[in-house]
Amino acid sequence: MKLAGKTAVVTGGNSGIGFGIARKLAAEGATGVIIGRNEVTLEQAGRDLGGAFLPSRCDVTHIESLKSAFRKANDTLGPIEILVVAAGGAVGPGTVQPFAEVDEESFDAMTELNLKSTFFTVQKALPYLADGASVILVSSIAAHKAFPGMSVYSASKAGVRTLARTLSAELMGRRIRVNVLSPGTVDTPVFDKMGFTDTEVSNMKSGFKDIIPMGRAGTPEEMGGAAAFLASSDSSFIVGEEIVADGGVVNL
Ligand SMILES: NC(=O)c1ccc[n+]([C@@H]2O[C@H](COP(=O)([O-])OP(=O)(O)OC[C@H]3O[C@@H](n4cnc5c(N)ncnc54)[C@H](OP(=O)(O)O)[C@@H]3O)[C@@H](O)[C@H]2O)c1
Repeated sequence: MKLAGKTAVVTGGNSGIGFGIARKLAAEGATGVIIGRNEVTLEQAGRDLGGAFLPSRCDVTHIESLKSAFRKANDTLGPIEILVVAAGGAVGPGTVQPFAEVDEESFDAMTELNLKSTFFTVQKALPYLADGASVILVSSIAAHKAFPGMSVYSASKAGVRTLARTLSAELMGRRIRVNVLSPGTVDTPVFDKMGFTDTEVSNMKSGFKDIIPMGRAGTPEEMGGAAAFLASSDSSFIVGEEIVADGGVVNL
């Protein structure tokens, strides 16, 4: 077990990719806390993880909520050795919109969830991170490839990717490595949170799948494998870097 005895906090650990990552970290011996808003899925995820991760309710777009969640996580776990920032994704109907129609409200909601919350999640975790900790930010292939209708999401995720470089440089004195995991299409509940009909969701998923050279979507478990590598000492010389896990969309 690569992560035996390690402590971890996974934001968005109650759903989709974050849950897949928490499950893999637990399988590798880590224990910790999963953060989300939905109490039902938080409790369920905690049970599904066999008690290795405790649920913690927190809205990552509220800075006071983040401060309190990390203070509590530290009380429970002691210094945090792995931080995975997976909370993000959809904000309802404003998630996918033609550029000309994006209004200030949906711009703010998208950047608040996908960029600003990532920035402040790491900042508010910082006092409780162990020296030598591994921080993993979840970006997206949308930071690398154009997807019409996703201008604000893509810009936010590009911001997340570049944040890993600057934070790694600033935190080098404490040997904290900040790396990025950029998934391609992974079938998770995110697609049901964009305000589309079932048919539109199904068309969107097949449109994304059609462009994947490997011919299938990725799984939360596969994202867990990549995150566990970045969390472990196997990646000890990798810093400010990115793993694109997308079945070949960006590079092939
Ligand atoms: N699925 C994909 O194809 C794909 C591709 C590239 C990148 N990504 C990225 O991967 C990450 C996870 O996405 P997913 O597909 O797993 O989506 P998901 O199943 O919808 O999960 C999103 C997670 O974020 C949490 N979250 C959202 N808003 C929050 C808030 N304000 N405060 C606290 N938690 C919040 C959700 O918890 P609650 O339900 O409790 O709010 C949930 O646990 C996102 O950053 C997304 O952009 C996904």
